[in-house]
This record gives sequence, C-alpha cells and structure tokens, in this order.
Amino acid sequence: SKVRNLQVPQINLPTRIAQPGVGLDHHHRAIKNLVHERILQRHPDKPQLVSAKPEWKRLEEHLKSEIDQSHLRDLLQDEHRSQNMFAEHDGVYLDYSRQRATLKTMDLLQDLAKTQKLEDRIQDMVTGKKINFTEKRAVLHTALRADRSEKIYVDDDAETNHNVVEEVHQVLDQIKFFTEGVRNGDILGYTGRRLRNIISVGIGGSYLGPEFLHEVLKTEPDGVNSALGYNLRFLANVDPIDVERTCADLDPEETLIVIVSKTFTTAETMLNARAMRQWLWDFMGNDKDVVRKHVVACASISSVDKVKEFGIDTEHYFFKFWDWVGGRYSVCSAVGAVPISLMYGFDLFEQFLKGAQSVDKHFITAPMEKNIPIIMGLLGVWNHSFLGYKTRTTLPYAEALLRLPSHIQQLDMESNGKVMTKHGIEVDYAVGEIDFGEPGTNGQHSFFQLLHMGQTAPCDFIGFCQSQHDLCLDGESLSSHDELMANFFAQPDALANGKTEDEVRAEGIEEELIPHRTFKGNRPSVSLLMPKLTAYAAGQILAIYEHRTAVQGFIWDINSFDQWGVELGKQLADNVKSQLIDARKSDEDHVIKASNPSSTRILNYY
Ligand code: F6P
Repeated sequence: SKVRNLQVPQINLPTRIAQPGVGLDHHHRAIKNLVHERILQRHPDKPQLVSAKPEWKRLEEHLKSEIDQSHLRDLLQDEHRSQNMFAEHDGVYLDYSRQRATLKTMDLLQDLAKTQKLEDRIQDMVTGKKINFTEKRAVLHTALRADRSEKIYVDDDAETNHNVVEEVHQVLDQIKFFTEGVRNGDILGYTGRRLRNIISVGIGGSYLGPEFLHEVLKTEPDGVNSALGYNLRFLANVDPIDVERTCADLDPEETLIVIVSKTFTTAETMLNARAMRQWLWDFMGNDKDVVRKHVVACASISSVDKVKEFGIDTEHYFFKFWDWVGGRYSVCSAVGAVPISLMYGFDLFEQFLKGAQSVDKHFITAPMEKNIPIIMGLLGVWNHSFLGYKTRTTLPYAEALLRLPSHIQQLDMESNGKVMTKHGIEVDYAVGEIDFGEPGTNGQHSFFQLLHMGQTAPCDFIGFCQSQHDLCLDGESLSSHDELMANFFAQPDALANGKTEDEVRAEGIEEELIPHRTFKGNRPSVSLLMPKLTAYAAGQILAIYEHRTAVQGFIWDINSFDQWGVELGKQLADNVKSQLIDARKSDEDHVIKASNPSSTRILNYY
C-alpha cells in the first residue's frame, strides 16, 4: 500500500531478488528499499543506499559481463595482471592475484570507495570524529599506538587541549612502571611472595586480542626468554570448569588477578572476578589487603567507582582506558598491555604497538591502489556483496597464530554484523561475512574438503619466510617450515586452478570416478607473506585486520563500532536468572512460567 500511495507506476524488481533461494525477508527488504528509492526521487537531498549509486551498478554489470565469464585458471596466466596485483609495506607482502578480479575490477572498486568518501572517513576515524554515531563516541584505537609526540583530539577539538596521546602515554608509563615492579620483585603479594602467575579475567574483546598475542609470544625467542618463570592464563567463560582449569595448579600467594573489563559490569567477567577473589580469600584470609595486593583492574575511566567498590587499589592497581576504545579494538590499550607486559616485559608489548603503528601510517597515507588494508577491505566487499560468498576463512600457516582466527571472528562479526545504514535505512546488499579459520596445515585435514569442492569461502593465507624455530631432521631434504610453507603456496593454486576432467583422465583415473575427482576451481584467496612472526609482525597483522573491517563498514555505510546485537540476549538471560532464583528459593513443586510454552518446558526440565 505504501507503494501504491506513492503512485509508483511500475516496480522492476532487481533480478538479484528474483533468484531462487533468496528468502522472503530479502524480498520485503528490497520492496522497502524501492519505496525508499521513490522517496529519494521526490526528495533528492535524502541519502541514498550505496547499492543505488552508479559506481555500485557498474560493478554489478562488470561482474555479469566479464568476471562471471572468466576463470582464475586463465586470469593467473596474465603476466601484466599478476605484476599489478600485489602490495608491499614494511615487510608485509600481499598477493591478491588469486581473487576473482581484474585490474578493471580494482579500478571500479576504487571508484566505489571514492563515492563512499572512504579516505575522508578514515581521516574522520583517526582524527577523533565521533563516527560511532549510535553511541556518540570517537573511534581512536590508532591513538593507542601513536608516537608520544603526536597530538590527537577527540572530535578534532584542539581547543579543549585534551590531547589523547598524552593520556595514552601516561597510562603506558604507569603500566611499564608497575609491570617492571612486579617482574623485578619490588611489588610482592600479600604474604611477601613473588607474583609469578597472571590470570587475566575478561571476555570478548577483553580477552581474544591479548590471547592471540600471548600465543604469538609463547614460542617467539624473545618471548620465551622473558617469560621464563612466569605463567599467563586467561579466564573467560562463566562455565565453572573454566575457573577450575585456570587455577587448579596455581599458588594463590604467587598469583596476580588482572580483571579486564571496559564496563566492569559484564556478567561473566564479574562473576569470574568474584570467584577469583573468593579463591584468594580462601587461601589467604578475608582481608582487604589480599585484594589490594593481588587484584588489578583494566577498565574504562568511567568504571573507576565500580573498581574501587570491588576492593581494588585504584591509585596503583588500576589501569584505565577510554570510551573511544571499542572492546574488540582494545588489545593495544591496558587490556593487552598489562597481562602481556607482566608475562613478557613491557618492551615486547611496545614492539607490538610499533608494528601496529607502522600499518596505521600506511593505512592513513598510502594511495588506495597500494594500501594493504584498503585493498583487502574492497575485496571483502566484492566477494561478499557482489560475488555472494557469505563466509571467509583465516588460515595462518603458523601454529603460533592459532588464536588469530577467533580474534578476527569477533573483530569482524561484532563490527560488521549489522543491517542498518547510518541513516537508519536497511541495506539491500549483503553485509558482514561469517569468519572462521584454523591454522594450516591442520585445517587442510578438517574443512578444506568443503573449500575445494563444496561452497566457496574466500581464504586469507598467512605465512612467514622464517619460522620462530625451524626443525631440520637428519636425512630430510627440507626443513619442517619448508614443508609447512609448501602447503601455504600450493593450496591457493589448488583452489584457484582446480583440476579439469581432462587432467583427471590423463592421470588414468577410471571414467566413473572422474566427476568425483574433478575440481572446478575458481575459488579466491589472498596470500599475506611476512618475514617472521614477532611481536612487531603481530602488531602489523592486528592493524591490517582492524582496518580491513573498518574499510568494509565504511563502504557499506554501517556503524562498525557499536554492538547492540549482544544486548537482547543479555536481557533475556537476566530474566531467566530471576526465574531460577525464584525456583531455587521455592519448594520442589515450583513451576517456572516463562514467556512461551517451549521455554517453560525446557526450564522446568532443567
Ligand atoms: O560481547 C559484547 C561486548 O560488549 C564486547 O564488545 C566486549 O569486548 C565484551 O562484551 C566485554 O565487555 P567488557 O570489556 O565491558 O567486559
């Protein structure tokens, strides 16, 4: 009826939505957006969905007329193309020639970036504009790794004279002083013992980034040396078994608990923090100094009262960060700095910051066609919104990056799992991939079958020229690292080229098996090759992925920096908790009444 009232003479549904398998929801959304288009025609000053722009349409047309007719097997033979489909920065080598894209695709994607004012949006982000518009906050994780001499103001407001970089370095100095004090024995536990165990309690962004970095440093030679005699564990899950596993064999007198929570209210973290406090009290007595000497907080400045209430010494054991640091972008703040510096020393954490800073500078200044995070972000949009690939994999050929896929999963899916544009209009294009991954070669023996023959998921291969520790066995002609890297180089070609029926036949395979052993290929990937996995390289990788996520959000016109989607589940869990409290207090016959019969039944079963 809305359509009729607008007196739209005729609606041509885009062919995209008439395809089988496209849900009703999608049709409704498309109609809604057509209505929106008509409104825009009457009010040209109103914002447009990016999919209505000519630059988007040109990409759709290019896909149909050129890319859909091509195969990576042929594209890869083009010398000129391959010479132009890589980018390099500070040791990072990105090869994107195995994307279903030509040089023309890249030009068209850059046109799209221009019409979306990508470079202005990046500037807005790094200069402190409040681009997180639903929370009215700046997004300044890049300031966390800026040089001491830089000046960055929230909302670009130099008049307030509130240079955030100065504050960042004040806190970093405080962290350096504190963590060195613990490591050299100036700061001791309640009973006078050295603090050698660190338990970092936090979840989501307050956990995954630091754990990713911890895993990198665990086997990195400098990391190994500096961690001698120390233990770092993470407690994230509210499952009591995680508590059990984390502290079972630790001596509380030698343990420092680091509570990492921006809001200092997250239910899981606070329950685990209370569990850890109880554990300390059980061993050392219920004295307020036990908490003051064994518990540290990393939280946002606005949580200081809650930190104090918990019993923490806010003058010496509280390391703040700011509301302009999003949880999943917070590893460069106290969130990562405190646990990592306690375990590995502040200097290694500083190298991590330097690596991230190097990529930040590149991201802010390099032209689009040479800019690694921008290229990766544009290809992300291309693969998801145009080619229709809904998932994407992170495949580090480095065991020490085993937690990178989980970090990227949260970073990306919490950031870009949205459907509303800045102007409150629902998108009619695909936004937000499902990210998953696993180190190679393990993944090859798990889900690679599907990657090769089932659904297509664009892959990010990440590898290193040198291993953290190579292994060369007597009598083997290649080292173990070469063996690993042989797979890193082979898999992208296997995915891209596939294997034709003729090739299978030429191998003498019996005729009836030929269809089963044919690979269609044409499956896209990028390869990131770097010199060696160090703290610095980990910082580079982190920043590349943070910026890729932001680029995609900017092109899609969504807010990559809020996370309202996790709220509803939290509210409903609170309702369930109240019902469980009532049930626990009542007699055995108590019947829980939930909001629907299904929930009522399962809760009573529990
Ligand atoms: O999952 C939602 C979320 O808010 C994340 O964005 C955040 O990193 C995590 O919870 C933990 O929040 P906090 O640091 O406030 O405990």
